[in-house]
Amino acid sequence: MSHDEFPTETPAVVTCGLPYANGDLHVGHLRTYVGGDVYSRALKRLGQQTAFVCGSDMHGTPVAVNAEKQGVSPEEFALEWHETYKETFPRFDVEFDNYGHTHDETNTELTKQIVSELEANGHIYKKEIMVAYDPAEDQHLPDRYVEGTCPYCGEKARGDECDEGCQRHLEPGEIEDPVSSITGNPAEYHERTHKFFEVSAFTDYLSEFLDRLEGTSNAQNQPREWIESGLQDWCITRDMDWGIDYPAEADENASTAELVLYVWVDAPIEYISSTKQYTDRVGSETYDWEEPWKEDGEIVHVIGRDIIQHHSIFWPAMLCGAGYNEPRAIMASGFVTLGGKGFSTSRDRAVWADEYLEEGFHPDLLRYYLATNGGFQQDVDFSWDKFRDRVNTELVGTLGNFVYRSLLFAARNYEGAPDATVSEEVDDRIAEATEAFEAAINDYSIRKAGNAAIRLAQFGNEYIQRNEPWKLTDDDPDRAAQVIYDCVQLAKALAVIFQPIAPETCQRLWEQLSEEGRVSETTIEAARKAPQGTFGEPDELFEKIEAERVDELNEKLESRVAEATENDQDADESMTDDTDTDESMTDDSSDLEPLVDDRISFGDFQDLDLRVGEVVSAESVEDADKLAKLEVDIGHEVRQLVAGIKQLHDLEALPGMRVIIVANMEKAELFGVESNGMLLAAGEQADILTTHGDAEVGTRVQ
Ligand code: 2FM
Ligand code: ZN
Repeated sequence: MSHDEFPTETPAVVTCGLPYANGDLHVGHLRTYVGGDVYSRALKRLGQQTAFVCGSDMHGTPVAVNAEKQGVSPEEFALEWHETYKETFPRFDVEFDNYGHTHDETNTELTKQIVSELEANGHIYKKEIMVAYDPAEDQHLPDRYVEGTCPYCGEKARGDECDEGCQRHLEPGEIEDPVSSITGNPAEYHERTHKFFEVSAFTDYLSEFLDRLEGTSNAQNQPREWIESGLQDWCITRDMDWGIDYPAEADENASTAELVLYVWVDAPIEYISSTKQYTDRVGSETYDWEEPWKEDGEIVHVIGRDIIQHHSIFWPAMLCGAGYNEPRAIMASGFVTLGGKGFSTSRDRAVWADEYLEEGFHPDLLRYYLATNGGFQQDVDFSWDKFRDRVNTELVGTLGNFVYRSLLFAARNYEGAPDATVSEEVDDRIAEATEAFEAAINDYSIRKAGNAAIRLAQFGNEYIQRNEPWKLTDDDPDRAAQVIYDCVQLAKALAVIFQPIAPETCQRLWEQLSEEGRVSETTIEAARKAPQGTFGEPDELFEKIEAERVDELNEKLESRVAEATENDQDADESMTDDTDTDESMTDDSSDLEPLVDDRISFGDFQDLDLRVGEVVSAESVEDADKLAKLEVDIGHEVRQLVAGIKQLHDLEALPGMRVIIVANMEKAELFGVESNGMLLAAGEQADILTTHGDAEVGTRVQ
């Protein structure tokens, strides 16, 4: 692995956390898969050789418990869901280069091989432990078969994870007040022999690994705390039938004959198996799986934040112990809530993946919403109202509007791109957008990558409006042709830059422009290549969503939730629901004010006239404890403002300082002094906002 900027000389593999093959996918699940797909497409855009792989997670209690409920074998049950997922992902344009599953031969063999390797390297040992047991059923109770209280945070937890509280992995025997989730009886404890992987021996390695790790900061910070509080070894076997058998060849005394491997051993190994299957299909001259996993290449894991511990601690320790490469980056997404509350499968409180498509919405709309609504590690709220707002404002109003008006004008007046070359202004602006895109991907921010395109479209609208080509066609036809050529070039650049987020729409735009081949086969450089060909009148790229449509969808969801809650008296006790993310999911660990959920449109933001100013003078307001009167030069004029900074700043030191003010704030009178604008400052200490570079006084902040 290198830490060179993408694109690197060596191939990359991007993986997505494997979905348990145990139930319908909803919009909350899609965040990781859309995120991984956008990221891998964006890497390919940069010219990075990339494989995008995933597979279904077939084993473990999440599958066994649900299969039992349906009265079918776990294998039959999981395979059916696997087939469903395989079909569902492409419908959202989530296109894995390989999508396997953990129960296939490649993964079974590789898992046994890696466990044998860990045994041979002395990283696995045997230990007697107490495991939960239900005497009424004469059954051991691994993982989701037992529920109780988390010993770390006191929240309700499952046998192997504190899913409603601190998100920690729990070892067998750790959960307090254990109750069988089969019968509801208190669990007994039985002594059993199990295998342990000595994670604690990797403490120093893992600390250093976390320092090297790139991606989202949550994947580094939480694990650091866990390491500081001391790593425990990890029980890697379970008293179950469903799973991959412990490799007999690695266990001389056959003490593990009745055990299977814990699902979290074979699940991440599927990342490697799936890459291997990709190589088997395309040939090692096209993509060699050994390069990222064993030689020199870049491994990027895209996951949900509930499985950080598995990916930042257990998995790199396993890779290291078995002689494989470590991940370069982990991107851990926040959760998705629905109208401010958790998704709940048991209460049917979800927007299902199939349902979304059946409602007739284009996948690119959801992809855009999920990829850009907040930073990747932030929790994101989905609501039909917000969805409509973002689609109508940014996709229809900004990007779609610019492209449509430009191409319509070009088609009607020039039958395509006029005869001209791109202006320096537009070429520079596109170069800025491609650089922003590249920087965003190196910063693991798909939101910033999406914003690079939306900002370019905003520029496009402003450019066409400012130049008014419709007024120039008669008086200055050359200038009109120049402006429209620039707009066609901008539309082409948008197809290239926005493609990872909206692949199907950008392909349509590409065809609309009569560009050859597929936009997915180009790289970012194509954004600045001259548009070619003649083209006809365009179709609109996006369709506006009417308010009534959203009202209908909200009503539908509400009545469904009410019905499901009524029918599911036992919803709270449901042991089969691995997708409930109730209100407790939001991270309240910091003292920061919670983020405001309600988004404003770009138009709303533009209503604020924020300006760079320079303080000319600052003096105390008589009789007021906190207020100071400032004269601030904002280019057009010198404004008098009143600000609550008297006790927090040395007023004499302020003249000459660059500040940011809201210039169109309503006038106010404070202690008899008029305030004509507002000074921006952060927090209780009134940390005054300033500029980092040398923006001129009067410059608009946007
Ligand atoms: O938590 C889950 O949904 C697991 N199925 C994720 C597995 S990711 C991996 F490591 F394979
Ligand atoms: Zn906990």
